[in-house]
Amino acid sequence: MKKIIALLSMVGVMAYVLAEPQIATLRGTTDLDQEGQAPRMAAEVNDDKRTDRDYPMAAPSIPHKIDGYQIDLNANKCLSCHNRQRVEESQATMVSVTHFMNRDGNFLADVSPNRYFCTQCHTSQIDVPALIENEFITMDELLNRAGSSH
Ligand code: HEC
Ligand code: HEC
Repeated sequence: MKKIIALLSMVGVMAYVLAEPQIATLRGTTDLDQEGQAPRMAAEVNDDKRTDRDYPMAAPSIPHKIDGYQIDLNANKCLSCHNRQRVEESQATMVSVTHFMNRDGNFLADVSPNRYFCTQCHTSQIDVPALIENEFITMDELLNRAGSSH
């Protein structure tokens, strides 16, 4: 009996291994040892329109191009427009006050080092269909579904 069970489970494993992959990956149907065709590069959205935030503490997405903007030890191009002293001239949104807070919640005179690398959290956008399906819903949809009367 034990042998039959072992045999059956072997068959099961083999069938699983041989079956077509069911998981949608970014490489699509291209075999592992082949190089697929790269998708065309899409242009960054550059319409200067501020976008909706999906929940109150969401980092706003960047409504302008940022290609070639240097952010490293020597320079931070973003801050040349978005820092407190620069917004009068640039008319950019000032980085929010949270960006001046250190980890203990104290406000510093300049942008806190933990907010220095802007693109850790803020991204420019490209107008393309989603690469893979996802079930993300905004906080408002979530509240609607929960039947809240907010
Ligand atoms: C030349 C000036 C300039 C530079 C450099 C710049 N920005 Fe901006 N940014 C703006 C202006 C002006 C706006 C307001 C919307 C617009 O006009 O595009 C803006 C809008 C934004 C917003 C949207 C704010 C909101 O409230 O929705 C974010 C986020 C942002 N920028 C992040 C960045 C990041 C990150 C970088 C660096 C990679 C950067 N910006 C570099 C001028 C600049
Ligand atoms: C660790 C993540 C993180 C980093 C790094 C970061 N941000 Fe933000 N940013 C946020 C979040 C979250 C918000 C929205 C909540 C808030 O205001 O704190 C925000 C808000 C903003 C806003 C909108 C301010 C407003 O009042 O509407 C601007 C502009 C901005 N960030 C620019 C920048 C720039 C420029 C840098 C780099 C110097 C940067 N951020 C680095 C997370 C980040």
